[in-house]
Amino acid sequence: MRIVLLSLLLCVVTACSQEKVPAADITPPVIASQQAVSMPDTFAADAAMAVLNEGGTAVDAAITAQFVLAVTFPEAGNIGGGGFMTIYMDDEAAFMDYREMAPAAAHRDMYLDENGDVKTEESLFGAKASGIPGSVAGMWEAHQRFGKLPWKRLVQPAVDLAKNGFNVPAKLADHITRYMARMEEQGISSNFEQFFGEAAAAGVLFKQPELAAAMERIRDQGKDGFYEGETARLIAEFMAANGGLVTEADLRSYQAKWRSPIVYPWQDYKLITAPPPSSGGVAVAQWISMLNEVLKQQKLPDQNSTAYIHLMSEIGKRVFADRAEYMGDPDYVEVPVQALIDPEYIQARASEVNPDAISVTEEVKPGLYESPDTTHFSVMDKWGNAVANTTTINLSFGSGVVVEGAGFLLNDEMDDFSAKAGVPNFFGAIGGTANEIQPGKRMLSSMTPTIVLKGEQVKLVTGSPGGTTIISSVAQSILNTLFFDMTAEESANSPRFHHQLWPKDTIAYHEGLDAAVVSELEAMGYTMKQSNFGDVHLIKRTDKGLEAASEARGRGKAMVEEAPLD
Ligand code: DON
Repeated sequence: MRIVLLSLLLCVVTACSQEKVPAADITPPVIASQQAVSMPDTFAADAAMAVLNEGGTAVDAAITAQFVLAVTFPEAGNIGGGGFMTIYMDDEAAFMDYREMAPAAAHRDMYLDENGDVKTEESLFGAKASGIPGSVAGMWEAHQRFGKLPWKRLVQPAVDLAKNGFNVPAKLADHITRYMARMEEQGISSNFEQFFGEAAAAGVLFKQPELAAAMERIRDQGKDGFYEGETARLIAEFMAANGGLVTEADLRSYQAKWRSPIVYPWQDYKLITAPPPSSGGVAVAQWISMLNEVLKQQKLPDQNSTAYIHLMSEIGKRVFADRAEYMGDPDYVEVPVQALIDPEYIQARASEVNPDAISVTEEVKPGLYESPDTTHFSVMDKWGNAVANTTTINLSFGSGVVVEGAGFLLNDEMDDFSAKAGVPNFFGAIGGTANEIQPGKRMLSSMTPTIVLKGEQVKLVTGSPGGTTIISSVAQSILNTLFFDMTAEESANSPRFHHQLWPKDTIAYHEGLDAAVVSELEAMGYTMKQSNFGDVHLIKRTDKGLEAASEARGRGKAMVEEAPLD
């Protein structure tokens, strides 16, 4: 259906509008389309584009990218973590939740000392910080439902890169060097250097034989090549020897879940975005629709002006108050999604926004509705299907420990739970009972892989890393692209800002934001903190075709290619 429509459309703008030519000169028109990838590194971009060129779907390309990033982007790419994949395929919206789960032995107070204080380092570093990884199960389920090329073909590039090695990009070498220095400074002991120390030099050919063997097991045995057998045994042994909780039984019980994405009308568009256990979809929907409400009373301020940033910050306060109170794993707590994005609720919340001054933080309560490393990539195939995928081991290089014998880093996702009500986690997010630790529960996330449709056509595929700042990055990438009509490149690289209620009246902002705007916001009473959060990778459809862009600060690569339609 999609192919027919697209062919018809192309026919209208190309072949069918040509003047009549003598019959002998008529060669069958090559109906071309476009395909695009926007990836956090060149290895993933090239491997994903090769899959598209072989006739793979956006989901096929995403699976390859996920596994390649587990080899070439160790700070966030992973098989030891989890994530979310938002899919729009053959006019169907789907959402794959492959978020980590708390192991069976986890309990609410597991990170508290005898005085009831949070032992932060335990939920951030070392084996005890890890939840049960979900990435391999997520890719497997996505392939079962939407895959076209064989699984083995899709995993092979990761095997090759781990086995034969890749030349370490300067930015990765630099990242590893800084990470090792920080670990030493903080007296954290881990086997990280033993596995990644060699990659601290730019240009060196870095091979990962243990990871290659783990990838081969995934290639040959699918999901069972990770959750059963050798790899499962290695994970469980490593955990037992290092104070971690994940067992072979935990690994066997892990389930990736298909969930209904949040589908939310906004302007002339429809957002397809992340439902709980992500807070991101609700938060982005609230943010951009509250802005709409406010704009019924006043005119749209210029993008990134003082008035705009203040307005967005006022809205952000309300978004994050709701996040802290109501959001958690929907398999364990009731999350009032519909109520939180209900138009009347949004209208009421928007009416609390003060356009001229900062509203008092302590007075911003959850509404009464009558509730630094992850990575993201975006893909569009030649049929117009799209994938937005955000994946993480939480902080850069996760828990900082590597499964011996299997060569991959484990996540420190347990820190995304609320270790104690009201005590902020690494990202400054606070939470209560909705996000407390329970065995088998998924920790609340901010990851928000998002696809925006106009009618049935994908207009935008977007997402970003950055913990709680993901919500701002995604909301602003949507507004920049579709509201302020920026090109993909402008949208990905326009300075962003973030306000999350606490710390009080504090705005994080990107380098490059107008200095006068920063001073004006300070004069209003905001504390302004420069911080280059996020790494947006987006694809935009314009009337002329696709545009793809990766934020310039990172080491991403975005490309659009012509593709013959079959
Ligand atoms: O799921 C979440 O919201 C976090 N674990 C994401 C962490 C992250 O984005 C770190 N990136 N810079």
